Amino acid sequence: MSAADPVATERTTPRLRLRPITAALVDDLWELHQDPGIAAWYGGARSVEHTAAAAAAMQRSWISGGLGKWLAYDGVTGELIGRGGPSRTEVLDREDVEIGWAVRQRFWRRGYATEIGRASLDFIDQTTDADTVIAFTEVHNRGSRAVMERLGMVYDREIRRPGLVEGVEGVRDDARFAVYSSKRASRRLNQAE
Ligand SMILES: CC(C)(COP(=O)(O)OP(=O)(O)OC[C@H]1O[C@@H](n2cnc3c(N)ncnc32)[C@H](O)[C@@H]1OP(=O)(O)O)[C@@H](O)C(=O)NCCC(=O)NCCS
Repeated sequence: MSAADPVATERTTPRLRLRPITAALVDDLWELHQDPGIAAWYGGARSVEHTAAAAAAMQRSWISGGLGKWLAYDGVTGELIGRGGPSRTEVLDREDVEIGWAVRQRFWRRGYATEIGRASLDFIDQTTDADTVIAFTEVHNRGSRAVMERLGMVYDREIRRPGLVEGVEGVRDDARFAVYSSKRASRRLNQAE
């Protein structure tokens, strides 16, 4: 584990400023959670308490493990666009580096999630020696799966975990999730293209 300064993990992409989520950004994280398009995929809008705990956990993740989630802002206007980034997960009963994204509904289909995902993969390759990177989402989240495919990730397996089931209200314990993965060698090839 490497100690990381959250400020040093800030990144810019062609259109976005990516700021590491710490307790200082809790208000913006809460605002993001209220977005109807995001809330629909996370079992409803999250409470202030839940958001504060999440922001504190993300801050710890950046400081103790050098990875975490960013909030994404328009690089010119400063408007809040979404969140995402690299973190560690044990969803496959081992430690993996995982990437994820969520974009406010009014900004969907403009390539922002892909831009966050690409920055996440670059960050992982620059700051860790992780070979495999995974991403996962409910099997019917076609948008998120499209982002994974756009990033050159490959379908790996299906798992069951708490989440949404198509056509069913509320969060279920054994929702079907699609796991995608990316290997460092193929990321190098993608970059070279
Ligand atoms: C899924 C989500 C992050 C996609 O964000 P986005 O910024 O619209 O994605 P992009 O614009 O980068 O799109 C990347 C690709 O996905 C496609 N795509 C995006 N949304 C799609 C959808 N709902 N259905 C099918 N394809 C979709 C785009 O057309 C694009 O493909 P292309 O490059 O071949 O044209 C966004 O819809 C979202 O935040 N949803 C709610 C939260 C969520 O589901 N997060 C993921 C949880 S794992």
